[in-house]
Amino acid sequence: TTIYVITPTYARATQKADLIRLSQTLQHITDVHWIVVEDANATSKLVTNVLKRSKLLYTQLSIRTPAFLLRQKKEPKWKKPRGVAQRNRALLWLRENIQLKKSNGVVYFADDDNTYDKDLFNKFRNTKRVSVWPVGLVGGLRFEGPRCNNGKITGWRVVFDPNRPFPFDMAGFAINLELILENYQAHFSSSVAPGYLESSLLSSLVQDKTQLETITPNCREILVWHTTTARAHLNREPYVKAAKTLEDDKVEV
Ligand code: UGA
Ligand code: MN
Repeated sequence: TTIYVITPTYARATQKADLIRLSQTLQHITDVHWIVVEDANATSKLVTNVLKRSKLLYTQLSIRTPAFLLRQKKEPKWKKPRGVAQRNRALLWLRENIQLKKSNGVVYFADDDNTYDKDLFNKFRNTKRVSVWPVGLVGGLRFEGPRCNNGKITGWRVVFDPNRPFPFDMAGFAINLELILENYQAHFSSSVAPGYLESSLLSSLVQDKTQLETITPNCREILVWHTTTARAHLNREPYVKAAKTLEDDKVEV
């Protein structure tokens, strides 16, 4: 079974550092296909370099986030969803390029700045429909996600809007590829209230959260963390004492 890892990414000072970390995590996994979708009008050299060096099977795509979804100056981060157009672009690619029934696959949405335990991937590889597991450091909690007993979900450890149809983070679930190919209209909606992005896709794929699968018997192993990379401060760049600053600009960081 191939794991299709879908990663939206955008240009910023820490982009390469984040992508290298994720690529080197994925290098520990067998049978992965990394679909990286840049938030840009065209693909970039920097991302191509990371992908080539990774030796992974990959697809590099790009689509710009539409203007109405761009964060305005001083607007809080949670107001607008991120990575939506990019993940939907990857879903379109799967539907256009992978034939139903010919291939076994599982789809996972892996943001570029989270921290992934390599053991996570083999635990969700057998996902029949949709599997779910706890995520560390998210939702204002040490960890958030399903509570379960002998593989059966018994409840949810969640505080932010627990009435959401699917009350968990993007990093906390995987979907069988067949389900995505059969439901060709299923996609992320950018017009939903904050926290409802995951629900907007999953509502078209499974009836409700009682139908979800687990990946460990007790749902108490944390294998992914919602880390965020600190913004790089580059304010001293103008003061570099060197004759060769133009050459420095060509250094890929
Ligand atoms: C949280 C969730 O973990 C995300 O899965 C969810 O998409 C996001 O909230 C949301 O509300 O939309 P968070 O860490 O706050 O994530 O968001 P980022 O990591 O900044 O962005 C999520 C992904 O989208 C990343 O892979 C990032 O590279 C990408 N992104 C971000 C873009 O493609 N374009 C942007 O302008 C910003
Ligand atoms: Mn993030």
